[in-house]
Amino acid sequence: MGEATIMSTATGGGGATVVVPVVVLPLVAILVMTYLFLKRSTTNVRKGDANFPPGYSGWPLVGEFFEFMKPFPSYTPGTYMTKRIQKFGKIFTTNLLGKKMIVSADAELTRLMLTNEMKTFETEWPEHYKKLMGESSILILNGEEHRLLRNSVLNFFSFARLESHFLKDANEIATGIMSSWREGKVISALGASETYTLDFALKNVMGMRPGEPEVEQFRHDYHEFREGLLFALPINFPGTLYNKSLKARGKVQKVIRRIYDERRKIEGCRGPRGDDYIGWTMSGTNLTRDMICDLMQGALFASEETTSRAISLIMFFLEGSPKALEHLREEHLKVRMPRDKDGWSMLSWEGYKQLQFTQCVTNESLRLGNITRFLVKKALADVTFKGYLITKGTPVVASFASAHFDPSLFKDPESFDPWRWQTSSGILKTNNFFPFSGGPRLCPGAELARVEIAVFLHHLLLNFDYKLADDDKPTAFPVINFPKGYPIKVTPRE
Ligand code: HEM
Repeated sequence: MGEATIMSTATGGGGATVVVPVVVLPLVAILVMTYLFLKRSTTNVRKGDANFPPGYSGWPLVGEFFEFMKPFPSYTPGTYMTKRIQKFGKIFTTNLLGKKMIVSADAELTRLMLTNEMKTFETEWPEHYKKLMGESSILILNGEEHRLLRNSVLNFFSFARLESHFLKDANEIATGIMSSWREGKVISALGASETYTLDFALKNVMGMRPGEPEVEQFRHDYHEFREGLLFALPINFPGTLYNKSLKARGKVQKVIRRIYDERRKIEGCRGPRGDDYIGWTMSGTNLTRDMICDLMQGALFASEETTSRAISLIMFFLEGSPKALEHLREEHLKVRMPRDKDGWSMLSWEGYKQLQFTQCVTNESLRLGNITRFLVKKALADVTFKGYLITKGTPVVASFASAHFDPSLFKDPESFDPWRWQTSSGILKTNNFFPFSGGPRLCPGAELARVEIAVFLHHLLLNFDYKLADDDKPTAFPVINFPKGYPIKVTPRE
């Protein structure tokens, strides 16, 4: 319906009827909001505080939420950050859904926040996120309880177990998935890497084997839970993504609790399938049932989602860089073992340790792809940094991606250049690289992720060529996703 046809009537003082278009009122409202926006947007959020970082406060109620959430290619800094850094510098203020926040695109401040976790800064998750992760989740807890959970992760996902258990599992699961790939088959690279990392996690966290009906139902519920964790807005009505995800969390927890209770009846709690994380935690720690069950769900999520995106990103970047792909393939050919009875050459531990260029490619893909773009940490005390005041209680967005795109830290930051990580003495070490966060919460699965990635690449590159089957690219929303699942066509190599 055209605007001019929507009319209402009002009676003027002389009794004459004045026709007023209904659109006038919304227009006035828009003008007032625009005025407020323009007026407020160039002023400091806290006028009284000269040292409070400058920034935009955005629209009433929503602030800058929609600009912040607007999707963009994950291998670029995005216009939201670029424009604000240009105008205000690397530390600025924003307002997301009515909450004033400081954004740190400054690697030094980001590092300070990470190393002072639980002293002057503390991770802050949105309330709806806490409900999904569980109040006893390792991601949510702080202090002594967090330390206990973290120790259990570090002890189970240890370096020794990488060699003794995880490498073999990764080899078996990767080759199991690729054994169904035939000439010209189009597969979703994201889907295949998700199956790989989730199957790996299900086996090692809870002794679950894919293919069993209960496991497949669990996978389905877990995916529904994860969708909400990644993409849901905190709107809890029947039918919303958040509501579905909460229900799915309930189903996932029910299965984990049942496994826990069954294991309690077995002496040693290890369960019929030997050494998995739930059994190990039950018999080797004093953690409560609630803590263990949330920990298992958290471990599945923390390991599966991130690592699958890392593998897909690497495939994406390699597809656009034939030179790096060839170099990488040569490296894997050098450590190739004799084929087993099914025709696969498993990656050995000795071979893995020689894969230096693989680590360079992994680093570069994590730097440029930015799986965890940022985390929000709350200031636990007033902090002064580079002349700015961060008042106690203020949430600060630690933008890892901004450090990765900072041209003063990484030359030509938007180009994919795995060679930048090569040095004469090995692989470049830098404290401006935050794919695994840092400080007391540094990802305890970083080394395991590297092993999983290397094994997947080993079998992919030695046995297949692949090319993009349909245009797709990693998109930051701000959580990273491949909208079409990154479809590729695979061709077995001779
Ligand atoms: C490429 C893959 C991975 C990436 C990019 C990644 C990244 C991260 C990041 C950014 C954090 C947040 C730290 C913070 O709150 O400051 C984290 C935490 C965590 N990650 Fe990973 N991760 C990966 C793989 C894994 C794997 C394979 C595991 C399996 C054990 C794992 C387990 C965890 C756990 C348990 C935490 C919570 C740590 C804590 O709060 O103390 N991650 N990871």
